[in-house]
Amino acid sequence: MSDRYAVIGNPIGFSKSPLIHGTFANMTGQDLVYEAIEGPLNGFGERVDQFRTDGAKGLNITAPFKLDAFDYANELSESAERAGAVNCLKFVGDRIIGENFDGIGLVRDITVNLGVKMAGRRVLMLGAGGAARGALLPFLRQEPSELVLVNRTLSKAVALAEEFAGCGPLIVSGYAELADLAEGYDVVVNATSASLRGEMPPLPGNVFRGAELAYELAYGKGLTPFLQAARGEGVAKLADGVGMLVEQAAEAFAWWRGLRPSTAQLIAELTVPLS
Ligand code: ATR
Repeated sequence: MSDRYAVIGNPIGFSKSPLIHGTFANMTGQDLVYEAIEGPLNGFGERVDQFRTDGAKGLNITAPFKLDAFDYANELSESAERAGAVNCLKFVGDRIIGENFDGIGLVRDITVNLGVKMAGRRVLMLGAGGAARGALLPFLRQEPSELVLVNRTLSKAVALAEEFAGCGPLIVSGYAELADLAEGYDVVVNATSASLRGEMPPLPGNVFRGAELAYELAYGKGLTPFLQAARGEGVAKLADGVGMLVEQAAEAFAWWRGLRPSTAQLIAELTVPLS
């Protein structure tokens, strides 16, 4: 029988994970079945118990279950522990191992696919929710000269920075204060949920001056207000999160199956032109 995997979320109809993992399996000749599960909002654990009883080997987790998956795991990787959330589970006997590949997927997309170095550069991250939290440690591991975390609710950014104290040059700012910063940024990443509602974080326009890359974590939204503003300020490279999505999936696939599929062609196929 083929090995079974799935993505669980609610809603789940929009998920591209079955397509991505199905493509990876074909590319690498792996015998597996990958499905989409709409998890009950108050019954994540029971539904995953059932999937494991059915012989599942692993599971991807999307909104709103990443914290449930964190609690469900009986072992956590450092990145899952630091992110406070799990986006991938592996089942090995009684072991339920939790991982989080979102941040590393984002870093790979920026540094490998887009060819933008983070080491020694100035990086600005917008947002202090789950998406930002998951990216902080992988970003700091790239050794930027400075990582500035900006959030509308300053206290949330301050709390995050306290958690990651000692991991690297992490600085907190409010949006208004960004206008006063003397130096510009090389990489600006929007990890807020603003674009999901067509909103723009209250960024002073000058933060984009001299930037090499503006990266929108949301994907498939076209030219969001954030990317529009970056383009208006002359940022050369604009990207949305489709590369991150495929890269985190490739990390999960490699963790489960022991071999890493190539990603470039799939990213190209899934990319919605930013216009
Ligand atoms: P996620 O898991 O996607 O990160 P979240 O945990 O709800 O979602 O966090 C959403 C983030 O987007 C927060 O940092 C939020 O800012 P606040 O903490 O101040 O609420 C940010 N956000 C959402 N809409 C925004 C907007 N219009 N402008 C600026 N920040 C916004």
